[in-house]
Amino acid sequence: MTVENTPSASPDHVTLRRIRAEDWARQRALRLEMLADTPIAYLESLHDAEGRSNSAWAAHIAERVASNTSAQWVLDIGDRLVGTMSCVLDDVDRVHVVAVYLSPAYRGRGLVDRMLDEVVQWARARGVTTLLLEVAQENDRAVAAYRRQGFVPTGHTHRHPLYPEITEVEMTRTLDHPG
Ligand SMILES: CC(C)(COP(=O)(O)OP(=O)(O)OC[C@H]1O[C@@H](n2cnc3c(N)ncnc32)[C@H](O)[C@@H]1OP(=O)(O)O)[C@@H](O)C(=O)NCCC(=O)NCCS
Repeated sequence: MTVENTPSASPDHVTLRRIRAEDWARQRALRLEMLADTPIAYLESLHDAEGRSNSAWAAHIAERVASNTSAQWVLDIGDRLVGTMSCVLDDVDRVHVVAVYLSPAYRGRGLVDRMLDEVVQWARARGVTTLLLEVAQENDRAVAAYRRQGFVPTGHTHRHPLYPEITEVEMTRTLDHPG
């Protein structure tokens, strides 16, 4: 895998990097894939996403690229994107990890850890020590991955806004500050 600006990257065809404005069409394809693959993992329906115009997709990505309070990483294999993770800084200095996805063939290869490392660096650069995320209680694979990465449940749960029968569990990880 290549991490841009990281010379020690291992040889693979997957590049991990921040999203760029020109990615909008491939991001649209990835987003539609995610919403079809694991609808309970996201706060938007496939139907709503399919209804968005190309210009709205492009504008959304351009906004994300320009933002100082949010960021998105993608896994690029050239003709398509195969993974993504985003994060958002809230107004009490916590970073929320959102919109996490790997295409099925790219799961179980440590790529979620690599994406999370990028979020951790981004958070640390802003002096943030608290990461938060929400995950469907029944999403055992995601919960296991987050636990491995040091996340623990906060005890807060709520109903999924789109699927009220699904309980979402809040998890947190505290970051150390080097030095
Ligand atoms: C969630 C996701 C990003 C995790 O990435 P991944 O590469 O699959 O995760 P990993 O394989 O590194 O880790 C998964 C863990 O779950 C375990 N696992 C795999 N399948 C499992 C299952 N059916 N039930 C329980 N645990 C399972 C693995 O053994 C591993 O645990 P371990 O590291 O302790 O051995 C990826 O699975 C994904 O994109 N899923 C669909 C979208 C999604 O759920 N997004 C998260 C929204 S909060």
